[in-house]
Amino acid sequence: MAKVAITTKFFPEETERLTHAGHTVVVHEGDPLKKPELLAFANDAMALIVSLSDRVDAEVLQSLPKLRIVANLGVGVDNIDIAAATQRKVLVSNTPDVLTEATADLAWALLLAVARRIVEADSDLRREGFPGWTFIPKHLGLDVFGKTIGIVGFGRIGQAVARRARGFGLTILYCSRTRKPAAEKQLGAQFSALDDLLKESDFVVLCVPLTPQTRHLLGARELSLMKKTAVLVNVARGPVVDEEALVEALRAGQIWGAGLDVFEREPEVHPELLTMRNVVLTPHIGSATWPTRRRMAALAVDNVLAALRDERPPTLVNPEAWPS
Ligand code: NAP
Ligand code: GLV
Repeated sequence: MAKVAITTKFFPEETERLTHAGHTVVVHEGDPLKKPELLAFANDAMALIVSLSDRVDAEVLQSLPKLRIVANLGVGVDNIDIAAATQRKVLVSNTPDVLTEATADLAWALLLAVARRIVEADSDLRREGFPGWTFIPKHLGLDVFGKTIGIVGFGRIGQAVARRARGFGLTILYCSRTRKPAAEKQLGAQFSALDDLLKESDFVVLCVPLTPQTRHLLGARELSLMKKTAVLVNVARGPVVDEEALVEALRAGQIWGAGLDVFEREPEVHPELLTMRNVVLTPHIGSATWPTRRRMAALAVDNVLAALRDERPPTLVNPEAWPS
């Protein structure tokens, strides 16, 4: 019997799968835990199910000597020190695949919302009423159909964004760490260097993980390459974009607008972004649909149950730590 600590509000049916297996489960339902609170809460735990608001660093890992697995409720694992976990033989799992389509849907929702000024139009209508149909209204937007999309990071989510782009008749450019010949053929996507992609795309969608190589992948120089009529969509991680440089590019009219689900210093949002009408902001809800969150919870529990049975977790991030 093991203690499983879950740092966030969770689905009771998934908690029950753990208790049925004989484990003791503690669930923290309030605001994200600060480090000392996390250490006290997870004391003696053999498994930790964490949210993306939790930082699992070397100190946390060292302070929890019984820990066998950290199951992340998300596919991105930049909130966990993977090297430190591996060194301590602590397994780390994530939730790939089950959230791909929901996140790609949100990327498209942001893209369309910015291009067609949907949030602006909605809030103006609520505030000022509908002035009647006019030929040149104040919410003139951009064409989407037939334009060019540039997808940065062509993995699961990037390719799911591309599948949707086909329905909109878009030319698809992508850049990624490695070339994807099968996806190129299947989706009609063209491999491109980042600079060329930025110069040629009407919509740039970021789908890379946050790593030392992708931090500030888009800074002032890269943003200056984009078209004045281009839209940037970020469903990856905030620090992939230099937020200060983005604010400056938006302020200066260097790009048309941005749809942002993630921010450089979450949960903080750059105050100037909040004042900009050509920006649509969502609070990191890429995977936030009921069915997707249920699948993520189930997968996290599958991983924990496997690890506690000394079996390899199905979506293990650090195979070097296996067997633990
Ligand atoms: P994935 O399948 O691993 O795809 C990531 C892609 O990025 C891969 O094709 C990878 O190349 C590429 N890549 C990695 N480093 C790169 C670099 N330095 N330059 C260019 N390309 C690089 O992951 P995914 O499931 O699509 O998820 C991607 C990310 O989306 C996650 O890590 C997470 O941060 C973010 N995300 C956000 C939300 C949200 O709520 N907004 C939801 C889910 C995910 P290779 O194929 O060569 O490895
Ligand atoms: C969400 O941001 C995730 O990485 O799953």
